[in-house]
Amino acid sequence: MRGQGERRMYSEEALCEIRARTDIVEVVSGYVLLKQAGNTYKGLCPFHTEKTPSFTVSADKQLFYCFGCGVGGDVFSFVMKIENMNFGDAVRMLAERAGVALSQDESPEARAAREKRRRLYECMEAACSYYETVFAKSRDAKEARDYVKRRGLSDETARCFRLGYAPRAWDSVLTTLTGSGFLREELVAAGLIIPSKSGKGHYDRFRGRLMFPITDTSGRIIGFGGRVLDDSEPKYLNSPETALFRKGKTVYGLALAKNSIRNESRAVIVEGYMDAIMCYQFGFKNVVATLGTALTKEQADTVSRYAPQVIIAYDADAAGGAATLRGMELLAGVGAGVKIAILPQGEDPDSMLRKCGKEAFAEVLEDAKPLTAYKLHLITSQADTSKLDERIKAAKEVARVLANVESAVERVEYAGKAAKMLGVSQEAMLGDINRLVKVSGSRRVKRRSREAQDRFEASRYTSFKDDIARSDEVVQVLKAERLLLRLMWESKEVLETAAKRLKWDELSDERHRTLARAIEESQDAHPEGMGKDGLTSGQVIGLIDNGGILEYAAGILVGEDEKLPDNLKKAAEDCINVILEHHLLDRIREIEKELMSLSCTGEMQKSKELLAELGCLKKRISEELQPFRGTL
Ligand code: GTP
Ligand code: MN
Repeated sequence: MRGQGERRMYSEEALCEIRARTDIVEVVSGYVLLKQAGNTYKGLCPFHTEKTPSFTVSADKQLFYCFGCGVGGDVFSFVMKIENMNFGDAVRMLAERAGVALSQDESPEARAAREKRRRLYECMEAACSYYETVFAKSRDAKEARDYVKRRGLSDETARCFRLGYAPRAWDSVLTTLTGSGFLREELVAAGLIIPSKSGKGHYDRFRGRLMFPITDTSGRIIGFGGRVLDDSEPKYLNSPETALFRKGKTVYGLALAKNSIRNESRAVIVEGYMDAIMCYQFGFKNVVATLGTALTKEQADTVSRYAPQVIIAYDADAAGGAATLRGMELLAGVGAGVKIAILPQGEDPDSMLRKCGKEAFAEVLEDAKPLTAYKLHLITSQADTSKLDERIKAAKEVARVLANVESAVERVEYAGKAAKMLGVSQEAMLGDINRLVKVSGSRRVKRRSREAQDRFEASRYTSFKDDIARSDEVVQVLKAERLLLRLMWESKEVLETAAKRLKWDELSDERHRTLARAIEESQDAHPEGMGKDGLTSGQVIGLIDNGGILEYAAGILVGEDEKLPDNLKKAAEDCINVILEHHLLDRIREIEKELMSLSCTGEMQKSKELLAELGCLKKRISEELQPFRGTL
C-alpha cells in the first residue's frame, strides 16, 4: 500500500516526470517474459503460479493487471511488489533508472536521512571490497583460503558470494576506510568498528574471520557474518542491527536466489551461510538462509512473495524445535505451501551434499512432507513404540494435531497411518480425534467463517472473480459499470454524456464511484490531456491514493477482454441504461418494502415522502429509460 507520507516526500511533478520517462513494458520485461498482443503484452504472472498467461501489461495505459490473481497497478506498484520495496524506494529506483533528479523535491530532513543511508551503503560496499581483496590477495589470508578450499568451495563460488577475510589486526578496516574518507562515526553506525571501553579509541568488530557479506534483495551490502577459522567462540559473529541491517527481516542469499525462486515457483530455506552457499554450488540456486534465528513473520512474508511453495531444509535437530515449527506455521499463515525436508540425522545441507551428493539431496527435497505429516513424523519417530505408555502418550499427541486438520478425509487418512505406526487401534484414535474436534469445533467454525469472510473481502478488492457470488443482474451491472469507466477514460465525449445522465453515487460499487470521480477530476485538471487518446494513466492513477482501489482500477483500465467496442458512444449508452435501470428499480424495490412495513406502524408522514420519491423514480424510468428501450 502506498504510504501517504512517502507520497508527500516527492512532488507530483517528479512522479510525473518519472512516469513520462519510464516504459512499464520495459521495466516488467526485466522480470517477466512478455509477448505482444496488439497494444497489450501478456506473460506468466510473477505473483502467482499459472500455466496460461493472464498477466497483462498495457503499453498505452502504462498499467499492469493479472486477471488470474487480481494483482495490478502502475509501474511504481509493480516495482514495489516484485522487489518487495516500499513506495519511496520504488520511486528512488525508478528515478535513478530514468535519470530524474529527486533531491530538490525532498525536504531537508528527508534529504539528510537519504544522504546518511547512501553513505552507509557506500561504507558497507567499501568494507566488502576490502575484505574481498584481502581474501584474494593478502598473504595473511592464506589460512582463510585454505579453509574455504577444505570446506569444498570453488574459487568461483567464493567470488560469487563475495567471500572475504578480516585480518587479525585490531584496526585494519578502521585504518583502510578512514583512509578512504569515511568518518569514525560512520563506521560505528555501519557496525564495522566498536568504541573501546577505555574511552577514545575504536577497534575492528571483525578480526581473523572469514567474511560472508549479507545483501538486501537487490544485492546491496547491508551486513556481514564472520566465521572463525578454528573452534573458538563465537563461531559466527554478525553485524549489529543498523539503519540498513535488520536481522529479523533479512534473508541471506535472496538477491542471488530470487530469479531461480521465481522460475521454479519454489524456495528452499536452510539455516546457515555454508548451507546456502553449498546448495548454490551444487546447482540448487533457489536456496536462502535464515542465519540461525527462528524464521520470523517478515522473513516468511518476504520469501513467500517470491514463490508459493517453500521447503524448509534444516538439520534434523533444529527442524524439530518448537521455534522452527512456529516458523513453519507462520509461513503457512501467510498463505505459502510449506513442506519440510527430512535430512539424515546429524547432517545439514552442506555436509549432506558433500557426503551424499546432488541426487540424494534432490530426493530429500522431493520427499519433503507437508506440515501435518511432518508433525506426525516427529511424534511417531520420537516415541519408543515398545512401551505401552509411550504409545498412548504419542497417540494422544497425534489426536491433538489431527483435531486441528480441517478436512475430515485428511484426518481419517493420517489417523490410519499414525495408528499403524504406533500400533494402536485406528478406531480408538479416531474416537479421540472426534472428541477433540467436537470440543474445539464451535471455535473452529467461527474461525473458518471469518477466514472465508476475509478471503471474500480480499477477492472483492482485487479480482473480478467475486462476481461469482452475485446474482446475474448484479453481475451485469458491475460489468456495465466497469466498461463505462473504461470508455469514460478513453473518450471525453463519453465522460460528458455519463456525467450528464448519472450521478456517480448511482454506481453500485464504491470503488467504481472513486474511480469515476478520479477520471472526472483528472479531466477537469488536464482538459488538454483529453484529446482523442484520452487521459494518461498517471493523471488518473495519481488521484487514487488507496492501494486496493488502485489495483482494482488497473484491472478495469487494462480491460477484461482487451478489445473495445467499435462504437464507443453507443456502448456507453447501453451501459448507462443498464446501470440506471438497476439503480432505479433497486430503489423502487427498497421503497416498496419500506412502505409495506410502514403500513403496519402507520407512520403517515414518512409514507408520504416515500410515495413522492416513488413517483419521481417511476417518472425517471419513463423519461430517461423508455426512449432507449429499443436499444436495450
Ligand atoms: P559451519 O559450522 O560453518 O558449517 O556453520 P553452519 O552454517 O553449519 O552453522 P550452524 O549449523 O552451527 O549454525 C547455523 C547458522 O546459525 C550459522 O550459519 C549462523 O548464521 C548461525 N550461528 C551459528 N553459530 C553462531 C554463533 O555463535 N553466533 C551467531 N550470531 N550466529 C551463529
Ligand atoms: Mn554446517
